[in-house]
Amino acid sequence: MALGKTIYVAALISSFVYAVAVNNAEFTRKAFPSEFLFGVASSAYQYEGAYAEDGKGLSNWDWFSHISGNIADGKNGDVAIDEYHRYKEHVELMSEMGVDVYRFSIAWSRIFPEGTGEINEKGVRYYNDLINELLNKGMQPFVTLCHYDIPQALEDQYGSWLNQRIADDFARYAEACFEMFGDRVKYWTTFNEPNVFIPVGYETGSYPPQRCSASLWNCSAGNSSTEPYIAGHNLLRAHAYAVDVYRRKFQADQGGFIGIVISTLWFEPLTNSSEDLEAKDRIHAFHNAWYLDPIVLGEYPTIMHKFLGTRLPTITEDLRHKLRGSFDFIGLNYYSALYATSASYLENSPPRNIYRDSLTTLTEERDGIPIGNQMYPPSMICVPYGIEKMVNYVKTRYSNPLLFLSENGFGNKGNDNLPLLQKLNDTFRVECIQNALKYLEKSIRQGADVRGYFVWSLLDNFEWVFGYTSKFGMYHIDFTDGLQRYPKLSAYWYRNFLQGKSESHTEEFLTDFTKKHAGNLNPITAEA
Ligand code: NOJ
Repeated sequence: MALGKTIYVAALISSFVYAVAVNNAEFTRKAFPSEFLFGVASSAYQYEGAYAEDGKGLSNWDWFSHISGNIADGKNGDVAIDEYHRYKEHVELMSEMGVDVYRFSIAWSRIFPEGTGEINEKGVRYYNDLINELLNKGMQPFVTLCHYDIPQALEDQYGSWLNQRIADDFARYAEACFEMFGDRVKYWTTFNEPNVFIPVGYETGSYPPQRCSASLWNCSAGNSSTEPYIAGHNLLRAHAYAVDVYRRKFQADQGGFIGIVISTLWFEPLTNSSEDLEAKDRIHAFHNAWYLDPIVLGEYPTIMHKFLGTRLPTITEDLRHKLRGSFDFIGLNYYSALYATSASYLENSPPRNIYRDSLTTLTEERDGIPIGNQMYPPSMICVPYGIEKMVNYVKTRYSNPLLFLSENGFGNKGNDNLPLLQKLNDTFRVECIQNALKYLEKSIRQGADVRGYFVWSLLDNFEWVFGYTSKFGMYHIDFTDGLQRYPKLSAYWYRNFLQGKSESHTEEFLTDFTKKHAGNLNPITAEA
C-alpha cells in the first residue's frame, strides 16, 4: 500500500516536472545528463562524392544510381555534397555548432575497391584525415562500417548478401578498419538499418540489387518470399563475425564500443479489432525486432517463425553463440509512427513478407499520424511522441540495453522556386526535433539508458531514391551554385540548444540573413 502510494506520488511529480520541461521555452542540453553526447549523422554515399577518385572501387549505389532509372530526380551521388574534398569545412561547421560527436560511415569500396584483397591506401588516408580533423577540433568519430553501400564487385562475383561468403569478407574489412582506425575510433557500428536495405533490396527491389518476384514488383530476377530472409541471415552472420573479431583482437586494448543501428517505427493498431492488434504485433516483429531479437536474444521473433516457417533460415547453435549479446549498444534511428491494419486484402497473393502488407492504405490522418501515406518515406512525417514509446519498447523487450538515438530529424520536399528565406526558415524542423528531444528526455527520466542523440543531418544531401529532392539538412545546399552552404533556422536553434543558451534563435537568424543579403531590401524575396 505504502509502496503503491509512493509510486503514485512519484508519477505525479514526474508528470508535473515533465509538463514544466515540455512547456519550458528554455529547453536546452542542460535537461540531459552531463555526459550525454549530441551529434549529427551522415553516410558515405550520401555525402562524400568522389565516387571514382583515388582508387575507390564502384559501389552497388554507384551502379544502381547510374542505371536503375529509379532516382526521383535522375541524379546520383557522384559528387553528392563533396565531403571527400570539403571535410574540413564540414568539421568546422560542426565545431561552430558545438556538437560532441560525428556519426559517419566508411565506404567499404574506398578501403577495398574489390571488396577483398588489396587495401587502397588513399582511401585509408582520407578517413585518417577526417578522424584526425574531428579529434583536433574536440569531436568524437562514431563510425558505421556499412551504411547501405557495398563494393559492387561482391555483387558481381557472388551475389553479395545472398551468399554466405560475404560474412567473412565483411569481417575482414571490419578487422582492417579496427586495426587502422581503432586507436582513435571508440564507437563502431557494423550496419545501418539492415531492416530497411535488405527488404527494399530483395523484397520490393526498389534499391540495389533490385531483386524481387517478377509477379509482385516486376524485377528481372529474385524471390520476394525467400531472399530477404536469406540475405538478412547472412548479414547477421557478418555482424556476429565482425563483433567477434573486435572483441577478440581489439576491444581490450582500444577500449571502444561496438553495436548496430536499426530503423525503428512506432506502430499503432488502426482499430481495436483483434486483426489489427495482431497486425501491429506482426509489423513490430518484422520491422523493429527482425535483427534485434537475434542479436540480443539469439533467435528470430516467434511471429516471424510463425509466418515464414521454413523460409526463415535456422540460427545454428554455433551462430547463436556468436550472435547473442553481440553488441555493447544499440543505435535506434527514429523518425515516425504508422498505423497497422490487417492485410486481408492480400489473402490471395503469394507468400511474402507480411510486414509491408500490414501498412494501411487508407488516406486519412489521425492524432498526427498519416494513415497509409505511401507517397513519402516515414522520415518525411514527423511523429515525435513515438520516440518515447519506441525507446520504452526496446528497454522492456531487451532488458534496458545501452542505447543511442542514432538518427532523428525531418525531411521536407524541396522547392527550387521558393525564395531563399523560405528555404531556410524551417520552423517545422526545429519543432519536430525539439519535441522529439523532449520525449527522449522523458524516456531517460523513466529509466532508459540512452547515451546520445544525432540529428540527421547537418547538410542537405542525397536521399537515396529521392535524390536531392528531399531535404534533411540544418544547412541548405545550393546545388545550382557551387554547393554553397546556408544555415537554416534549425542550425541556429541546434547551436543554441547545444550551447545551453535560450536566446531567440529566430531573431539572430533573421538579423544575420538581412545582413548577408543587405543588397536586397526585401529579404523575403532574396535569392541565393
Ligand atoms: C535513414 C538512413 O539511415 C539515412 O541514410 C536516410 O537518409 C535517413 N534515414 C532519412 O531518410
